[in-house]
Amino acid sequence: MILSAFSPLLRNAGLASLTRDTLLRMDAETAHGATITALRLGLAPQQEYADPPELATSLCGLELKNPVGMAAGFDKNAEVPRPLALMGFGMVEIGTVTPRPQAGNAKPRLFRIAGADGVINRMGFNNEGHNAAFERLKGLRVPAALGVNIGANKDSEDFVADYVLGVQRFADLADYLTVNISSPNTPGLRNLQADEALRRLLGEVLTARAKARTRVPVLLKIAPDLDEAGMDAVARVILDTDLDGLIVSNTTISRDPVAGMENATETGGLSGKPLFALSTQRLAQMRQRVGTLPLVGVGGIHSPQSALAKFEAGANAIQLYSALVFGGLDLLDRIKRGLVAGVRAAGKTNIAELVGSRVDDWSSGRAE
Ligand SMILES: Cc1cc2nc3c(=O)[nH]c(=O)nc-3n(C[C@H](O)[C@H](O)[C@H](O)COP(=O)(O)O)c2cc1C
Repeated sequence: MILSAFSPLLRNAGLASLTRDTLLRMDAETAHGATITALRLGLAPQQEYADPPELATSLCGLELKNPVGMAAGFDKNAEVPRPLALMGFGMVEIGTVTPRPQAGNAKPRLFRIAGADGVINRMGFNNEGHNAAFERLKGLRVPAALGVNIGANKDSEDFVADYVLGVQRFADLADYLTVNISSPNTPGLRNLQADEALRRLLGEVLTARAKARTRVPVLLKIAPDLDEAGMDAVARVILDTDLDGLIVSNTTISRDPVAGMENATETGGLSGKPLFALSTQRLAQMRQRVGTLPLVGVGGIHSPQSALAKFEAGANAIQLYSALVFGGLDLLDRIKRGLVAGVRAAGKTNIAELVGSRVDDWSSGRAE
């Protein structure tokens, strides 16, 4: 997995066998566990230069050294936010965490679609629960914006109450909170995106934030499988609230881009390169609906060009995960260099000036 970028360090540490190819031959979840362990042990490379001023930006009032984040699901239990930040991510989102620990679905539950640089997962919010994440994060200095992504236990009698617990637990500790109602792997969860349910959820979440006496930004993470009416409903509801922003998007239940490929019929959410077109179109369509509300673009970023496209489609910041499985960690560096080059080529001085510059092309699906 993303250990590929660490091979020189691993060689020094006598772990030369853990190269990228070895990791790609491993079962996907085992490889992920090995990557987290390597990060915990301090084997990750650290960025040795300061990010250039072209990449400094702000998101919901947070000052970011660069607008590239690690998406939720990589560090579910807040084990390695600091190494990830030192590696050069401008944001690190841990979780999804649920109030109580839960095992998630039976293994295998994580699959590579090698021919398409895609991933299918049906992890099912496997995590050690709020307390474990809280204890790890308490007092930790993370040199990046730290997001805590909160969710609901699968067997919860009241999903909304679980999100409220998440706000109460992490409001003082996180730089921002993400309300994740878009995982396809917790039955019923995505129903919270519907009109009345969303109104009640956001009402209670934002009341809990007010009671916690913080102004920690709260973002909502949505699915790319919403249709036009579904997006209209989300936009209508959130614009009536104090919600700070949206993350577009989670994984898709669609299989169109990978039909016929190995593992494509596995149940779960599809991510990586095959998600790029759909998630970028949804991002642009939400940008058209929400004015200047901060948006984080996620889904299928796999190159400097695809990263730049998210900004053109309306993202103020971006996140990625799956491409690191195939591309290795030097992808982060390549993306950041590509963004700087894109800013300069457009005759601008900062990435923020590119936000939404091709929103119509991306929303209509004309751009590639
Ligand atoms: C193995 C795996 C686990 C994930 N777990 C979570 C999660 O717990 N919470 C969440 O909000 N998103 C989760 N995601 C979704 C990612 O955060 C991201 O939205 C999605 O993968 C699209 O980005 P990508 O194509 O760059 O991977 C997960 C994705 C993968 C591949």
